[in-house]
Amino acid sequence: MNKLAKEKKKAVKYVTRKNGVFWPSPAMKKIAFMSDPRVYSKAAKDPVKFWEEQAREGLTWEKEWDIGYEEKLPYFKWFKGGKLNFCVNCLDRHLNKANKVAMVWVPEPVNEKPIEFTYGQLYDKVNRFANVLKKYGVGKGDVVSIYLPMVPEAMVAMLACTRIGAIHSIVFSAFSSEALKARIQDGKAKILITSDGYYRRGKPEPLLKKARAAARRTTIKKIIIVPRIKKKAPTGGKYLDFNKEMEKVDSYCAPEIMNSEDTMFILYTSGTTGKPKGIVHDTGGYAMQAYLTTKWNFDMHEDDLMWCTADVGWITGHTYAMYGPLLVGAKTLIYEGGPDYPNPGRWWKLIQDHKVNMFYTAPTAIRMFMKIDEKWINKYDLSSIRIMGSVGEPIDVKSWMWYFNKIGGGRCPIIDTWWQTETGGTLINVLPGIGPFVPTVSGRPFPGVTKEIVDEKGRPVKPGKPGFLIQKSPFAPGMLHGVYNNHKKFVETYWKKYKKYYDTSDGAYTTNGLIRITGRTDDVMKVAGHRLATAELENAIDADKHVGECAIVPLPHAVKGQVPVAFVVLKHGKPGPELEKRLKKFVDIKIGPTARPAKIYFVEDLPKTRSGKIMRRILKAIITKEEPKGLMTLVNPQSVGRIKQIVETQ
Ligand code: WTA
Repeated sequence: MNKLAKEKKKAVKYVTRKNGVFWPSPAMKKIAFMSDPRVYSKAAKDPVKFWEEQAREGLTWEKEWDIGYEEKLPYFKWFKGGKLNFCVNCLDRHLNKANKVAMVWVPEPVNEKPIEFTYGQLYDKVNRFANVLKKYGVGKGDVVSIYLPMVPEAMVAMLACTRIGAIHSIVFSAFSSEALKARIQDGKAKILITSDGYYRRGKPEPLLKKARAAARRTTIKKIIIVPRIKKKAPTGGKYLDFNKEMEKVDSYCAPEIMNSEDTMFILYTSGTTGKPKGIVHDTGGYAMQAYLTTKWNFDMHEDDLMWCTADVGWITGHTYAMYGPLLVGAKTLIYEGGPDYPNPGRWWKLIQDHKVNMFYTAPTAIRMFMKIDEKWINKYDLSSIRIMGSVGEPIDVKSWMWYFNKIGGGRCPIIDTWWQTETGGTLINVLPGIGPFVPTVSGRPFPGVTKEIVDEKGRPVKPGKPGFLIQKSPFAPGMLHGVYNNHKKFVETYWKKYKKYYDTSDGAYTTNGLIRITGRTDDVMKVAGHRLATAELENAIDADKHVGECAIVPLPHAVKGQVPVAFVVLKHGKPGPELEKRLKKFVDIKIGPTARPAKIYFVEDLPKTRSGKIMRRILKAIITKEEPKGLMTLVNPQSVGRIKQIVETQ
């Protein structure tokens, strides 16, 4: 037996099979922070008390709160009157182990060495950058825009904001200049932090050009540039060099003591309307949710290394790539580049080389790797993995089993975490020490959280029957505290339908008492795990001068889950590949390549109701080759046959 085979054989088994499903093995139960199923019933008796106890034990407070939870719907507050600093909870309180690694950064180019940052080193950088921000006038409550790829400076910039009580607003680096501009304008940021570029699939990607264009004619006064690809960047005036600024300031910055309910960050996400919403997260509640869910879901101990593959531009990147592992005093790995660069073994080599213990990714990545030659996986030793996670979209049985067997070696629990940008941290999943791990089933609401599946009117549906997933009071500590500067949208999106319940917009049903998520019930798509609103994309395409009208529908896709398909009615121009290319390019400019339609069909008319509503449902049926229903309600039923013809012939 060769060395690799021996290692694999030796690996500890963390699951056992019983009655066709998987349960934690004695080894898993032994190390798990939480292996007592009574935690659910105990927390359910008094959820506020449960969270208060956890907050007292798990976080460092400057002053304890006066009121655990206060609710004046649609708003609610956690740990009211409590005072803390988030950065202190991530760094300062771990300084007794200043030489311990906090973050491992892996650059994409294989000739560049990974860099480890200890808690002490990170502390120094964060303090300095906090002073840089202060020097340029950033203070408590100011919004800072961050447009950075997966580089250590992203973590430094985020933590520095939290140190001085500034509100960070991170924009995904693959989003376009216009998308960034809209977010800068909504938040009225004065500072933008970006880089000269980053490496992606072997190529330096220019980022600064997009950042500069976005900042023009906005509130941005300074652009701080991280030199990553050593491209010549402008200096002076509006432009500052990240590294040079760091040298000029003091290495200590006193943390700003914040109220628990003060806003810590905003993150824009897609809803059913054309404009993204700035989801508002507070300090204490978010810290609590991020801390406890990281610790319990991933059973993360101090010496563990977690790799969450999500980009920092999404909530998963915020909570589990950046903050969660630091809150629990463990280690996080962040990787700059493409999953299959320079070859499809990159991720698996990375797990082997760095001995990753918790691996958290999205079904879209799993489906991508299922298509490659297995040799790229088999040649690496993945026995360091203990817990695996899945997030972002429903996972099918085949992908679950593949992930479980090929990556986890049939040894590790898969924690299928359901949550949203709005919830800050995970809300539904199985805990590794408790189980069971059932393919495609997310599990139970996290202790202290009450979810229910209801019908249109908010009445509970019978077990096993599909319905809408809602959340009941008390709302989990990590949940949003509004939409930035838009009370109306907050109410309309989350509270209008059920009033007293938070509307998740997801469908679900229970199976053997556990929750299975069926997906969004609104016009939100998940494209390769990325959240995208059909309305946002329609707005972008509608803005092109050739377009009279457009409708977007999701088409199921074997790897990406869903891809957008556009139906366009032209005002000017000739339908054909040239215009299709142009419109796709236009989407790149307006939103970014993640939103690019897989196909554009040019049609004469879109199916509409008498009131003028476009029937996307019918278009969806056409592209998925189902029989379109409800043609009677259309004002132009003849459009359907013509569209069918176009789709069939292309
Ligand atoms: C979907 C991502 C099934 C869901 C953290 C939700 C999931 C939306 C799961 C939020 C899961 C997330 N199983 N579906 N485990 N996790 N979703 O805001 O539709 O990017 O509403 O947050 O992703 O997407 P967002």
